[in-house]
Amino acid sequence: MKKIIIGITGSIAIYKTCDLISQLKKKNYDIEVIMTENATRFINPLTFGSLIGKPVFTDDFDETGYQIKHIHIVENASCFIIVPATANIIAKIANGIADDPVSSAFLAATCPKIIAPAMNVHMYENTATQKNIEICRSYHIHFIEPAVGHLACGYEGKGHLAPLEDILEYIEYVTSEHPLKGKHVLVSAGPTQEALDPVRYITNHSSGKMGYAIAVAARNWGAHVTLISGPTNLKKPFGVDVIDVISANDMFERIKDFMDFQDYIIMSAAVGDYRPVSYSHHKIKKKDHEMVIQVEKNPDILAYLGQHKNRQTICGFAMETENVIDNARKKFTEKNCDLIVVNDLFEDGAGFQNDTNKVALITKHFVDYLHLMSKEELAYRIIDKLIKIKGE
Ligand code: C5P
Repeated sequence: MKKIIIGITGSIAIYKTCDLISQLKKKNYDIEVIMTENATRFINPLTFGSLIGKPVFTDDFDETGYQIKHIHIVENASCFIIVPATANIIAKIANGIADDPVSSAFLAATCPKIIAPAMNVHMYENTATQKNIEICRSYHIHFIEPAVGHLACGYEGKGHLAPLEDILEYIEYVTSEHPLKGKHVLVSAGPTQEALDPVRYITNHSSGKMGYAIAVAARNWGAHVTLISGPTNLKKPFGVDVIDVISANDMFERIKDFMDFQDYIIMSAAVGDYRPVSYSHHKIKKKDHEMVIQVEKNPDILAYLGQHKNRQTICGFAMETENVIDNARKKFTEKNCDLIVVNDLFEDGAGFQNDTNKVALITKHFVDYLHLMSKEELAYRIIDKLIKIKGE
């Protein structure tokens, strides 16, 4: 169980920290909460204590126990995050001041540290605050920038606490091991769209969830990740370079731009195999008779990568409806991949749109049948396999 310290200071955004903590709890973190006196004026420590199931640290000088609390509490922590962080706490941290439970414990902590500020826009943009943030960054403290929006003080501007999902993602990133540090990973995701005219296109049911999960997992493990994404409704993951593309040809061009310096390339996109031979610049009119759409082959990106690879370890996906393993094995050889992830479209919980997947991992000599699992978990399994194949 990873231990995470949450420092809470006196900003109105504090109510969001309740939700953050309950979401972290579900992710099985061991949580400690530390509050400044001003924070306790907004929300009683009992609320946070109830959420984490233990006392909240609010006073360095209470008389229960004889441990030096601000030292003891941060031992073996994987991460210390101050959320919400006021201008005041940032100023203290920038200057090494330790005169309340949060700033004292933060100074004593040696784990990765994150600050998620929330304050009035003028306080945030004030040169003093910006300078303090720069100083904190130079101490390798991560900042999750506030969002722009309507602030509790009535102003519009930058100062809103960043969205909780970004904060959760950041915590997941800093608390992970980073076996891919310094490595480049290219992931393709989602469907492609092949336009017929300005309003119609040929596409498929891919949601992009599998590829996005792989990009996030590679980022959490410390890689520099480029995600080439066909059209999806998914939120762009933070810390990943996302390049939007529409057609298979667009995807091919962008992948060629990036392929040379990659260590791993994971082709999870459902690339359209065909595109219309011609594109009509005007909407094609309805006719009284049958219409035939002539299509031509798109480039096979994975096959191209297999032919031109040098140091890249390459993973392809296969979606089969019959002779699943035999067909996937053929693909493995024909496309010169290092790993093929094969899913059977007719398995319950596998394939398009689902949050889960059931696959087999095919390497040169083995077939690894995996049980049904979330796409998040599978993403780590795939990357782990690729790391082993590369022998790192
Ligand atoms: O041959 P098939 O389309 O079944 O292979 C699927 C794998 O090939 C996937 O990894 C997919 O991303 C990739 N692919 C490709 N270019 C295509 C079609 C599929 O790279 N035109």
